[in-house]
Amino acid sequence: MPQQIIQEAVAVLRAGEVVGMPTETVYGLAGDARNPSALARIYAIKQRPEFDPLILHAATFEKVFEAVDTFPQKARALAEVFWPGPLTLILPKKSWVPDLATSGLPSVAVRVPAHPVAQTLLRKFDGFLAAPSANKFGRISPTTAGAVRAELGGEVPIVLDGGPCSCGIESTIVSFLEPEPRVLRWGALTLEQMEPVIGRIAFQEKADPRLAPGNIASHYAPRTPLKLWQETDPVETGLRIGLLALRVRPMDTPQRVGFAKRFHALRLLSPGGDLEEAAARFFQALRELDALGLDGIYAVPFPEHGLGRALNDRLCRAAHGTRVP
Ligand code: TXA
Ligand code: MG
Repeated sequence: MPQQIIQEAVAVLRAGEVVGMPTETVYGLAGDARNPSALARIYAIKQRPEFDPLILHAATFEKVFEAVDTFPQKARALAEVFWPGPLTLILPKKSWVPDLATSGLPSVAVRVPAHPVAQTLLRKFDGFLAAPSANKFGRISPTTAGAVRAELGGEVPIVLDGGPCSCGIESTIVSFLEPEPRVLRWGALTLEQMEPVIGRIAFQEKADPRLAPGNIASHYAPRTPLKLWQETDPVETGLRIGLLALRVRPMDTPQRVGFAKRFHALRLLSPGGDLEEAAARFFQALRELDALGLDGIYAVPFPEHGLGRALNDRLCRAAHGTRVP
């Protein structure tokens, strides 16, 4: 990426405007975290309710100390192993962090992204960038610069193109506000990766939406009705239905192979059954199916381990309140 474009992005950020920023998880809509009018721009462009707080991004672990009041031992241990990377920590905030960034909460979400373009931008900017995913509130998260431009192009002066995101789903959010660490959102870092480092981590199935505001039921939603597929579901003929699944294995029963043939469009995310590959392609595949003007999309749930937990979480929220005809 040419240095000149980074310099322009830094100038835009210093002026209180926002830029599209690639990260290894999803693209973010970044603004100066110290500037309340930049934060207000983020909420306005996303049409996001102000009760849903933002994640502060910094270039280094050391920098994060400027934004947090305490940094418990287990949180540090995770950060040492997984930063830069797809891990967001919830920690008590320093008083300078604007209320608009935290929705008035006494805590702040912090993350050190690994993407080289995000790293370069953060180092040159030399501050904190508040960045939610660069989509309209409740919609599909963008994993390419093109997806950001398509959704927010007219309102965002610069979208830095860092290629397709390697993780493809958002960071894992772990809260350290209580003695027991607690996952608030499943994401690109798995429980299986974290527990060997700090031991048991809790998860609150139905987290209080005021404490984990991103956990509102409907999110990541395509415009096409989406439904989780169950073995017993008939697929009606005469309708244009798409299928999103990890794979349909050739060694599966003839019924299952026949099952895939009944769909108008297929997005099989990983022929080898690899959840990392599936996560990297997930939102883009959903976006593509949504663009086909189908009558509905069926999604086959993922195995409930590793990245499958985060993918199932996204599927359930994408399906909330909608039905395939
Ligand atoms: O991977 C990611 O995390 C991406 C990239 C751009 O870094 N960002 C992202 O941001 O997913 P966003 O705004 O879509 O989700 C941030 C979520 C909020 O919805 C909320 O659930 C949680 O972070 N959050 C932020 N501050 C919090 C706080 N103080 N307490 C609890 N949850 C918080
Ligand atoms: Mg989001």
